[in-house]
Amino acid sequence: MSEKPIILEELEKVSETALSILAGIQEEEVLQTWKKEYLGKSSTVMSAFSSIGQQPKEFRPLVGQMANQVKQTLEAALEERAKIVLEASLARKVAQEKIDVTLPGREPLKGGLHPQTLVLRRIYSIFAEMGFQVYRSRDVESDQYNFELLNIPAHHPARDMWDTFHIDQPGVVLRTHTSPGQIHVMREQAPNPIRVILPGMCYRYEQISARSEIQFNQVEVLAVGKNITFGDMKGTLNGFVRRLFNADVRTRLRPSYFPFTEPSAEMDVECFVCGGKGCSVCKGSGWLEIMGCGIVHPTVLRNGGYDPEVYSGFAAGMGPERISMLLHKIEDIRYFWGNDYRFLEQF
Ligand code: DAH
Repeated sequence: MSEKPIILEELEKVSETALSILAGIQEEEVLQTWKKEYLGKSSTVMSAFSSIGQQPKEFRPLVGQMANQVKQTLEAALEERAKIVLEASLARKVAQEKIDVTLPGREPLKGGLHPQTLVLRRIYSIFAEMGFQVYRSRDVESDQYNFELLNIPAHHPARDMWDTFHIDQPGVVLRTHTSPGQIHVMREQAPNPIRVILPGMCYRYEQISARSEIQFNQVEVLAVGKNITFGDMKGTLNGFVRRLFNADVRTRLRPSYFPFTEPSAEMDVECFVCGGKGCSVCKGSGWLEIMGCGIVHPTVLRNGGYDPEVYSGFAAGMGPERISMLLHKIEDIRYFWGNDYRFLEQF
């Protein structure tokens, strides 16, 4: 009789080891590794089957039987363990992914209105209280409306006040100010009285810096009718400035020049940072320049369809970015269109 083949002992040992390892497995992936190791092609069990031919004849049935038995035991144990592992992992998931409804929710990111929208709305509502309507006018203008009809003829040195973007199409410009809107309203309304403000983007070929942008808002003010005086202008603009800044801010009018108004003035408000004593915001002068204004030039009235012998009017133009900068002590105009959330979320 031949000796008992070692494989029988090996099978017994491997079965014991495999079962004890299996009992400790908690995860699906580890089960797969275990399966490969103990039931895969190169496992002891599988090599026992393929070794049968080389075993002494009388032991062949025994090796086959034993290999089968171990294989079945391991397979059954694997199936059992897989069930347990699956259940445990489900239970874990349920426990981990449960929502605690008693916790405060996470606040969604909320958008807000742009600081320029906010200041424009304030301006609209103050003028609305005084009976002014908002009139929208186009951004793309003709040279005629942007300059000519506003009493700024071609080659007149006054054109230097507005650096225009070069456009291929002759006679077409991006408006450099909201003043051309004056002509549009007048031509639409003549000879009716007018009280409007004209807000909107303006475009200038400028060196971009902390103080100037190539694109910015303006709000134009226009009143046309009979017997409109410089006093009406002063009263209206004072009323506006006091509502915007504060009720007892002082203002002053300084003589100035604009081709479309005569006389022309610049309105300053007393520096509300230092109260007129002089500081870095007002550059020591105690005053802040807020807008240009004046009595509508007879030529402009005529171009708008109003007889300057019968009608008169006043106009003004302001930069809401500049007003925002003063109100909120913003040091750089580029913040407005820089799209930096850290700047925008403060408003
Ligand atoms: N259009 C002028 C500018 O862009 C501002 C201005 C000044 C408008 C006086 C007016 C005005 O209506 O009367 O510099």
